[in-house]
Parts: sequence; structure tokens; C-alpha cells
Amino acid sequence: MENYRYLISAHNDALACGAEGRPSFFIRTYGCQMNSRDSEKLASLLTQLGYGTAVSQEDADLVLYNTCCVRESAEDRIFGNLGRLKRIKKDKPGLIIGVCGCMTQQPEIAQKIKEKHKYINLVFGTMNRHRLPEFLWRAINEKKQIIDISEDTELPELTDIPVTTREFPHKAGVNIMYGCNNFCSYCIVPYVRGREKSRPVEDVLQEVQALAADGVKEVMLLGQNVNSFVPSFPTLLRQISDITGIERIRFMTSHPKDFSDELIKAVAELPKVCNWMHLPIQSGSTKVLDDMNRKYTQQQYLSLISRLRAAIPGLAVSTDIIVGYPGETDEDFEETLKVVREVRFSNAFTFLYSKRSGTPAAARTDIIPPKVASERFDRLVAEIGPIQYEINASKIGQTFDVMVEEVTPVDYKGRTDDHSLVHFSSPTPLKQGDIVPVKITTAKTFYLTGEHHA
Ligand code: 5AD
Ligand code: SF4
Repeated sequence: MENYRYLISAHNDALACGAEGRPSFFIRTYGCQMNSRDSEKLASLLTQLGYGTAVSQEDADLVLYNTCCVRESAEDRIFGNLGRLKRIKKDKPGLIIGVCGCMTQQPEIAQKIKEKHKYINLVFGTMNRHRLPEFLWRAINEKKQIIDISEDTELPELTDIPVTTREFPHKAGVNIMYGCNNFCSYCIVPYVRGREKSRPVEDVLQEVQALAADGVKEVMLLGQNVNSFVPSFPTLLRQISDITGIERIRFMTSHPKDFSDELIKAVAELPKVCNWMHLPIQSGSTKVLDDMNRKYTQQQYLSLISRLRAAIPGLAVSTDIIVGYPGETDEDFEETLKVVREVRFSNAFTFLYSKRSGTPAAARTDIIPPKVASERFDRLVAEIGPIQYEINASKIGQTFDVMVEEVTPVDYKGRTDDHSLVHFSSPTPLKQGDIVPVKITTAKTFYLTGEHHA
């Protein structure tokens, strides 16, 4: 790293263009919160190399796309946007374009870029992102396309790249583990992110302590399956709760099959752990769940929700649902609707099944016609919205502690402990991270409005 820092700063001094007289970068992030955190790490590396931040890709000397491949639509969008970058590069031949992350970790995509997208300067993956300085140096100096998606497992997965450039002052994601061992039959993640690896507890605690010292009040513990953290996720929650300065702890994603009673007890007992859980159900049909290799039944999921709600008053549950998985019958879909009515999710991310080559589900021939799938999708969305509205409307007149997330010229936006979004007014100025009581006055499907009285 030291070598490349020296070489690239020398190059940047010579170039001396862009914002503040030095080259600038722009990172576009696709996909999940893990990717957002990875982008902060990549931004930190680039800042250390002497790059400044650009406000848009049009102004930047280096544009990096940190990609997602969980659904085909994500990949289509990325290639569409890369086409736009290609046109920008026509007028600005010095522009360096890099693509990294889950999409490029697939060898066939790396090959496609090599053959058809020669204007892209560098391509790397999810497991060697700490080598960005080296790839960048080589792309600049060897003046050829650099493609390297090797699984370089030596380090930084565990101790990882230190983050010096964060998106928000008051909250941060903290990776506690990487990879996934579950191999849900539709999902590409285990193939592009590798096997599960927990970070050492000491590393996680040190990172959270440093964030707290830097003014962070809320941490989101990140992993594909946080509740299989080794040695123990409930113990980790207790240790993080002891860190002064941290006021809210969230985590995602939890796999329902691994949500133990010990974890329920920890969440119930620890006041800093928020009363919001993201628990992807994927389908309400036990037959489809079995096909998906999810390892729980509808009944087991419902029983988990009952145990959680009995232990944690006011718990909000959000979820992910896939519609149109191969072989899904009308009866299977009715089971999903039934569960949606019964659980009453505060938020649900709904997806049309997307075939991902290399996954077991891709071999299935009993695919659902797109028209049937999209009709089911619309029915599902129509079922979820009114429930969200009712949950929100039940909060009118009550007062909740809200953490300020965004300060706009006209109001404040923040979140309650149970993750509801609140737009509110305040007679006194507030800043990001402040936690204030807000009385809810009106409800919409996706947010609440309220007033803070000083
Ligand atoms: N098709 C549609 N949705 C998918 N997801 C993962 N893989 C696929 C796929 N092949 C959804 C799941 C997961 C969320 C992150 O993305 O619901 O929980
Ligand atoms: Fe994909 Fe299943 Fe792993 Fe989640 S738990 S990342 S859906 S394989």
C-alpha cells in the first residue's frame, strides 16, 4: 500500500486537475448495506491516495461502480449506466472507469467486460478490494485494462480496510462477518461473497469504540447471516451495548432458522438494541420454502414472530419476499398473502424471482410465466401497503424518541427506535444524531409526520 500511495500521489501531483487542484473520484454503489460499507472503505483508500471527492460522475477523474448481482435487473441497470460513462469518456479520454463488487466477481461478467467493454480500465471483485491502489496504479501506468477477481483471502477480510471517509456523521455500518453458507437455491451471494467468516470479536469491538469516540451514536451490525456470528451473536450484542456513546444498535440480516431464544432474550434485555427486526421470509408456502432450501416452515416462522413479539413489546418486523419462484402455485402464493396478513410487516421488500445462472434454481424448468408473476406481485404490494398505513396510523397522537437522520431546509427527517421514518418540525435547531421526543400528527404509508416541542 505504501508504495502505491507514493506512486499514485506522484501521478496525481503531475496531473493536478479536478476539484481543489487534485484528481477526484466518484463511487456509485448498488445493492445492499454491505456494499455501502465497502464503498466507504474504497473511498477511504482513494482519499489516502490523494484523491478528492467529486459531486457527480460527470466531474470526476475516476469513477468506480461498486456493483450488485442479486437480481438481473441490477446488472442491466449497471450496464446501462456504464454505457453513459462510455459516452462521457469520449469527450474526456483521461477518465478512469473501474467496476468492482459482486457483479464482477462472476467470471462470465469479467470475461464479458474484457471482450465487449474495453473502455473500462479496471475490474476487481469482492475478495481483493483492498488491492485497489495496486490495480489503479497498474491501470494508469500499464495503459491497459486490468482485470483481477482473484480470491485473495489473506487479510483484510478480517482486520479490513480502516474507514476514514464515512457517509454519515452519526451512524455507521460495521461488518461483523462476511460471506454466506446457506445456499438458498435462488441466491448468487454465496458464490460471489464466499464462505462465512466471522471477524474477531476484539476487532469488531475496537471498531465500534473508535466510531463512538468519533461521534457515532448508531451502529448497524452487518452480515449476510449475523445470527450465526462465531463465537456468539447474543454475547457480541451485550459487549457492544457496554460501549459508551453508542445509543442504538441495529443488525441485518437475520436468517429465521438461526434466531435462537438466547438472541431473543438479549434483544429484549438490552435497551440499546432497537425493537426492529429484518427477518426475510421469502415465501409463506412451506413447500416453496423447502424448494428454496430455507430450512424453516411457515409454522416455524410464525412461531418465531410470536416468541419475538411476546418478549419485545412494540416490535416492528420487516421482511423480504420473492414472488414467482419456479413451481409456485396459486395456492402457494395464497399462503404468502396469508402470512402477510397475519404478521403485519411494517415494511416488506418485494422481488420478482430472477434467474441467476450457477444457482440450483436456475436449472428448474417449471418457471412461472412473467404475466402470472407480475399479477401476483401487484396483489402482494396491494396487500402490504394498507397494513403499513394502519400500523403508521395507530401511532398518531403518541410520542416517540426520534434520531435526526437528515436536516433539510424545511424540516427534519429521522427514525424511531422501531425504524419508522418521521418528517418533523422543531422550534430549536437540531443536528444529525440528536435524539428528541416527537409527537406524531399524521400518517402516510411510508412515513409519519410529527412535531418536536423543545
Ligand atoms: N431473485 C429475486 N430476489 C432475490 N433475492 C435474492 N436472490 C434473488 C433472486 N434470484 C432477494 C431475497 C433476499 C434479498 C436481498 O434479495 O429476498 O433476501
Ligand atoms: Fe442468499 Fe440465502 Fe445467504 Fe441470504 S441466506 S445471502 S438469501 S444464500
